[in-house]
Amino acid sequence: MKLLSTASLLLCSGIITAATAKPSPKSDCSKVSFRLPISVQNTAFSSPPDPNNETEIVDFVTSTFSGNLAPTNGTQLIDETFTINAIYCKPLKHASKKRSAAILQILVHGITYNKDMWSGLGLGEQYNWPAAANAEGYHTLAIDRIGHGFEKNAQYPDPLNVVQGAVHVESVHQLIKAVRSSGRKNVLDTRFDKIIYVGHSYGSFVGTALAGLYPSDVDALVLTGWSTSISTTTGGAIPFRSAALLDPSRFRSRALGYVTVTEESSRETAFFYGRYDRTVAQRDFELEDTTTDGESATILDIASVPPVGYKGRVFVATGTNDALFCEPPAETCASLLEATRQFFPGAVEFGYYMPLETGHCLTLHYTAPETFRGVHEWLRRFF
Ligand SMILES: *[C@@H]1O[C@H](CO)[C@@H](O)[C@H](O)[C@H]1NC(C)=O
Ligand SMILES: *[C@@H]1O[C@H](CO)[C@@H](O)[C@H](O)[C@H]1NC(C)=O
Repeated sequence: MKLLSTASLLLCSGIITAATAKPSPKSDCSKVSFRLPISVQNTAFSSPPDPNNETEIVDFVTSTFSGNLAPTNGTQLIDETFTINAIYCKPLKHASKKRSAAILQILVHGITYNKDMWSGLGLGEQYNWPAAANAEGYHTLAIDRIGHGFEKNAQYPDPLNVVQGAVHVESVHQLIKAVRSSGRKNVLDTRFDKIIYVGHSYGSFVGTALAGLYPSDVDALVLTGWSTSISTTTGGAIPFRSAALLDPSRFRSRALGYVTVTEESSRETAFFYGRYDRTVAQRDFELEDTTTDGESATILDIASVPPVGYKGRVFVATGTNDALFCEPPAETCASLLEATRQFFPGAVEFGYYMPLETGHCLTLHYTAPETFRGVHEWLRRFF
């Protein structure tokens, strides 16, 4: 099909407060780990920061998040087996929709987050994506990207040379291979024929790059906290430090190339806006994860190439006041989101949802239930 369907612009109105969110029955969730072989050509840098010098690392990260290219010197082969930790949640027994075939949503977090963001950092059911998806009959798998999370078996490989965009894309590809099969590597015990990729922010970049390299891996891309219009001004203004030096009790085992946001106020300014609970923003800072110099320096590699061969469906969900990916007023943001459909010339369907008065980490805002509803009303039309 050549024609793209009309985007569904679902503007939300009215005030939703945390108190109005209905308590949902407990999901059926368990921790799982995949062991995945990764063989990929990563980028080699010709003037990398000294791995033992925080100043050089932070300058390098800030420069690349500001949109500057780090000089490269060819590629380097990464050929290793990595562990991907995840939380797998099954649909509720009395889900509103029964499906003949199992459908899996794979949830991939952004920078300085891990898989816990999808369940709202434990701060309430109204922020819980898996709970909303499980109630609709979908299975969910929220992963820790390599180098992230706090599980006992988490790996923190070389931040510059290993933890790069290409490794993340390849690990999701291998994960999808596993869950589409009935083989030993599929620890979910269910073979999934349909996969919906859900990304937030950097996780959305990983999704578009995956769709470009492996166009038939997923049936739909749901890209949240994302657009093709990236504010490098906001990105470059986020203050970073080496996580192990900022907070040794939480990040002791990380090399200095694992960096994170230094101040609560800066994090709040970059990630929150308008309709949210300030105590959520505080917890969001206390529970923050990391990003790496390798991720920041390879962002453009995975973010800038349109997935021209991808013929699946695309849905974008981004807040009007997302300081990194949109711009108020609503009409301006809407036109930016509308324009992202050009990034997917082969997509069979495109739609978007734009929560009002909402910042970058949209699922930690009061509008989260509206966003969950907007996404699932669209998904329900096809899956
Ligand atoms: C580029 O890589 C080659 C091969 O690893 C190495 O010999 C050379 O010194 C590197 N050049 C720079 C400028 O880093
Ligand atoms: C770290 O790098 C900065 C900038 O290159 C340099 O000025 C400083 O002396 C270095 N610190 C150490 C301890 O090497």
